[in-house]
Amino acid sequence: MKKKSILFVCLGNICRSPMAEGILKHMLFERNLHKQFYVDSAGLLSYHQGALPDSRMRFHASQRGFHLTHISRPVKSEDLDNFDMIIGMDNQNIQGLKSLADTKEQEAKIFRMTDFCINMKAKEVLDPYYGGPEDFEYVIDLLEDACEGLLKVLVGS
Ligand code: 4NP
Repeated sequence: MKKKSILFVCLGNICRSPMAEGILKHMLFERNLHKQFYVDSAGLLSYHQGALPDSRMRFHASQRGFHLTHISRPVKSEDLDNFDMIIGMDNQNIQGLKSLADTKEQEAKIFRMTDFCINMKAKEVLDPYYGGPEDFEYVIDLLEDACEGLLKVLVGS
């Protein structure tokens, strides 16, 4: 059976999207569903290509038991063909992804992370890069909530 593939996208691919990738992989692993899915992340900027996630994000993630090992990479136009779902974090990400889409099929794969939230209300997962510790914590809260909702969609319950 072909694995269902999910790509999380933010701007730098060092804060939000690698965190979302880490959370979803962790949730899939806990439920023994990890072999059925391929999860990755990418950024609209190539500036941080080759870098581990931001040390502040890795610190806050590790406090909740998530160990982030993703290496930043820019999103490629082939990603829109190769992945089943491409999930952006904010309006700018969604616009950037839409501008990479050449076909209706590609555009239909683009989703907004906060649309999967169950308990929290937000329209975007905003960049915590210039924020403080509480901004990183809030981003992880939002991403955990959205990943719970996404998991329900993925497993159909
Ligand atoms: P991210 O955060 O998109 O959540 O990875 C950012 C990190 C770095 C930059 C922008 C956003 N930057 O401009 O360097």
